[in-house]
Amino acid sequence: MAASLDVNGKTVSVQAEPDTPLLWVLRDELGLTGTKFGCGLAQCGACTVHVNGDPVRSCVTPIAALSGAKITTIEGLGGAHPLQQAWVKLDVPQCGYCQSGQIMSAAALLAATKSPSDEDIDAAMGGNICRCGAYQRIRAAIKDAATSTAAPVVAAPPAAKQAEVEADVDEAISAASGATSRVQRGEVR
Ligand code: FES
Ligand code: FES
Repeated sequence: MAASLDVNGKTVSVQAEPDTPLLWVLRDELGLTGTKFGCGLAQCGACTVHVNGDPVRSCVTPIAALSGAKITTIEGLGGAHPLQQAWVKLDVPQCGYCQSGQIMSAAALLAATKSPSDEDIDAAMGGNICRCGAYQRIRAAIKDAATSTAAPVVAAPPAAKQAEVEADVDEAISAASGATSRVQRGEVR
């Protein structure tokens, strides 16, 4: 069925069932392959995008939960975001697979906290796994970007909004729990 989503500032129409995880709509319907599949279980952070400025795991977020929401993917950061510049400057990625998710979580952090402490970074980035162990460079790049004079592109709502978004997502996931996901069918590329 047809659904309408707001992705990177554009309203797009997609053909997908309401329980389809956002990750697969982004990658397969919209060709936004910068967002990666890692675990499919909200455990690794590779699929992180922003929903209304909050970091959300797109692998477990059905599009039914996203009516009227503003979705931002790594492509939506535009390539010149202070974090992207810092990532290049400090040569952060190793294999690179986790990095778009890392940057999206970091972007939400910097939008809410201009000068994050080590503890702030640990709290915000703890759910993003890097099998290559690039954690020290990731932390350094976040701090480098925080000192940049360029303003982050993505604005985050108040922290209290996170709980509200997660509650909405949980409700939608529960409603869609009987469906077979594309992850389960192995439609991964
Ligand atoms: S693929 Fe979504 S958290 Fe791992
Ligand atoms: S750079 Fe390889 S998993 Fe993070």
